[in-house]
Amino acid sequence: MSFMRKPFVAGNWKMNTNSHASAELVKAIASKAPAIAEGSVHVAVFPPFVYLQNVVKAINSSGIAVGAQDIYYEKEGAFTGEISALMLKDIGCTYALCGHSERRHVIGETDELINKKVTATIMSGLLPILCVGELREEREASKTEEVVTRQIRKGLAGLSAEKVSAITIAYEPVWAIGTGLTATPQQAQEVHVLIRKLLEQMYDAKLAEETRILYGGSAKPSNAAELMGQKDIDGLLVGGASLKADDFAAMIQSAV
Ligand code: 13P
Repeated sequence: MSFMRKPFVAGNWKMNTNSHASAELVKAIASKAPAIAEGSVHVAVFPPFVYLQNVVKAINSSGIAVGAQDIYYEKEGAFTGEISALMLKDIGCTYALCGHSERRHVIGETDELINKKVTATIMSGLLPILCVGELREEREASKTEEVVTRQIRKGLAGLSAEKVSAITIAYEPVWAIGTGLTATPQQAQEVHVLIRKLLEQMYDAKLAEETRILYGGSAKPSNAAELMGQKDIDGLLVGGASLKADDFAAMIQSAV
């Protein structure tokens, strides 16, 4: 297994926590999950923009990385309300989510916009996590493969294998996000294999083998080990359970 496929557990805090709670949460995670300091698992948290600096300070040298939930693709200028990848890099972020399902389906982001964000993230030196996944009605209509293939082809359009080697992909079936309905390990593994095959077709076998692919959608302590036990599931992108230090730490420990 390549370095890139060291287990990776990421916590997407979405629009939650506050100034005090964000710092306390990350400190509690660091103290409850010895695997982080041991270096046997990569861990990142994704707080809301306004608490990023707080969290960057609070992680100190715990080994936890910090990422942004979104970026804007321009470097600077008249884009009121937006935050560039360069700004996020400047304050100590390592990662950025691109194309999270809530950005696609609540905010209305398109594959074309997400491709610009992935590209700008890589160019800034941040590491993108490209999120993909089908809606419930798309799964029921047997369109999972078609949707995930489109999201990945369009999301990575114009990027060389060298650039794509910086990417982590997160498969998050929309019907499993925040619903308590987790994909079975077999359902998730099936789509992860499909994604790896697609990367091989688009690039080469080495890149497909080395790309980290996370699962997200109602991941919790009780299903984390079994999900991560699947051959092509390299870690988890956790929403709700990442807001509870005990739960998130347990999931980190189960990755080892
Ligand atoms: P839940 O773990 O709350 O289902 O959220 C998953 C998610 O969207 C992570 O990005």
